[in-house]
Amino acid sequence: MKTQKFISVVLWLALVSLCLKSTAANVKKPHIIFIVADDLGWNDVSFHGANEIPTPNIDALAYNGVILNRHYVLPISSPSRSALLTGRYPIRDGTQGFDLEPGEARGIPLNRTLMPEYLRQLGYGTHLVGKWHAGYHSVNHTPARRGFDSFYGFYNKLIGYFDHTIKLLSEDGQVHIGNDLHRDTPEALKVVHDKGYITDLITNEAIMIINNNGNEKPLFLEISHLASHGNQNVLDPLEVPDMQETNATFSYISDLKRRKYAGVVKSLDDSVGRVVTALSKAKMLENSIIVFISDNGAPTTGMYGTSGSNYPLRGMKNSLFEGGVRGVACIFSPLIKSAGRVSMKKMHIVDWLPTLYAAAGGNANNLNDIDGLNQWPSIVDEDVKSLRNHILLDINLALDIEGIILENYKLIRVQPHTSNKLLSNEYYGSNGNSSFNPHYNILESALSSPTGLAISHLTEFNSTSVTKADNVRKRSEVRCSQPKTFADCSNYCLFNLENDPCETNDLAKHSIRIRNVLIGFLYNYRKLTVQPASDVIDSRSFPENFHGTWMPWKNV
Ligand SMILES: *[C@@H]1O[C@H](CO)[C@@H](O)[C@H](O)[C@H]1NC(C)=O
Ligand SMILES: *[C@@H]1O[C@H](CO)[C@@H](O)[C@H](O)[C@H]1NC(C)=O
Ligand SMILES: *[C@@H]1O[C@H](CO)[C@@H](O)[C@H](O)[C@H]1NC(C)=O
Ligand SMILES: *[C@@H]1O[C@H](CO)[C@@H](O)[C@H](O)[C@H]1NC(C)=O
Repeated sequence: MKTQKFISVVLWLALVSLCLKSTAANVKKPHIIFIVADDLGWNDVSFHGANEIPTPNIDALAYNGVILNRHYVLPISSPSRSALLTGRYPIRDGTQGFDLEPGEARGIPLNRTLMPEYLRQLGYGTHLVGKWHAGYHSVNHTPARRGFDSFYGFYNKLIGYFDHTIKLLSEDGQVHIGNDLHRDTPEALKVVHDKGYITDLITNEAIMIINNNGNEKPLFLEISHLASHGNQNVLDPLEVPDMQETNATFSYISDLKRRKYAGVVKSLDDSVGRVVTALSKAKMLENSIIVFISDNGAPTTGMYGTSGSNYPLRGMKNSLFEGGVRGVACIFSPLIKSAGRVSMKKMHIVDWLPTLYAAAGGNANNLNDIDGLNQWPSIVDEDVKSLRNHILLDINLALDIEGIILENYKLIRVQPHTSNKLLSNEYYGSNGNSSFNPHYNILESALSSPTGLAISHLTEFNSTSVTKADNVRKRSEVRCSQPKTFADCSNYCLFNLENDPCETNDLAKHSIRIRNVLIGFLYNYRKLTVQPASDVIDSRSFPENFHGTWMPWKNV
């Protein structure tokens, strides 16, 4: 009798555990595809209202997801990537300030746990394709030792689109040029010499990872593009896959530099279409989250200018004005309710770690010592408020600039480096809308793009809903007129971003109380600032020491 009872209890327990297992399997963790564009300007996507460069695949995601229209980033690459991966303001890890140059022994401190590591703990396969730019002086600083199961791409800030090299001019006037294309795993670093246009190589690798992963294991795939960053050819910094084709497609853009820029962006947009199609074929799209962001604003003019457009926002890459830090961003997922909207909720790039961790079923409260806030509920549901009331934009002691946003107000202090337009206070460059595009109906194109076709059965994105998409597009456009003069902000400017997104009307002298509250916030953050590590170039890193390749050169 007793044994019988025992056996039935055991059977019952087995049955319960089976049921639990199958429910757990039914609530599958979403795949996360995180696409980062490099130096893409506010008005270089057509979903923000400009007609010049069509981005139908990205637009299809935006019109059927959420346009994150107040998504803030750091004003340059390495700090932005540090913030994304750690969920922390770069000032707290010494990763603020200047971009990492080849041969600098700096990077995200090894004692920080990065986003892929956290997602791996939740059972995810984790892969990075494309740009890293977060430090590689020791093997342990490279991406495949920081939480990624695989890495295919480049360590440094840029490579040539075709030759995949980067060069460094050392103080003695020598040029050090090396290949920077790698295929790494946690066990082994491998140098590769693949031929081809980098945007396509990155895309091919991403598709291979999607196909190999399939729908069984949750996938975290970061696709970190070179596009639309310039290369090191200062006078002609962009390379398109096929100039003849670019000439034909964009003949209506008379400025040749801007035309090439359009060709680079087109490849980026095509890449998004190919990735979404692959997700659909692998039956993963139904359960995917796709994020598209730019790491910072476009360097629209000056020596390294690429002809990108941040119009009508003030400033550009490197500056804390909106053109530098209010980045292009949208998210698409069938998990989002009442999709097809423009969110004006404040979000910062540090928020992605807790947001995606929560979306993946983790408890964001378990992430220790981060600045990011879980925005998943406020993204999924329009009615949920954002937890974020303020954003530290940056404190950069080297350039003597700082900025912070609280509610609708933004306080900013910058030096008027008139000789250096990279730190410009004004709006420069293309308005992203000056050439008439004769053949293009943006909305129809989004609908019939590979992305539009792949998502149509999930979203009811069809010719009836085009009007809805058109409204979304209109709402995401920032409208302001460009004034003739801009306020000097060397002793703090205060702007109300709600009615002055282009930062033209300085309120600092009138709203002294608000100005002082914001100065107080900055003061408290300044106390948390960690000095950046030395940015001396180490000659041991030179590629001539590593058969012509950029490689880790230090043991620790
Ligand atoms: C671009 O041009 C179109 C057509 O003239 C106009 O409707 C739209 O508002 C412009 N957008 C921007 C951002 O300038
Ligand atoms: C993490 O490492 C950095 C750089 O090595 C160091 O400055 C910092 O104190 C460390 N933080 C902790 C919490 O150990
Ligand atoms: C593209 O157009 C430019 C300007 O019209 C011209 O100089 C260049 O030769 C063309 N390139 C090709 C490959 O057709
Ligand atoms: C288009 O989508 C709408 C919902 O947005 C739906 O009611 C309608 O039936 C769809 N039309 C076609 C032709 O699929």
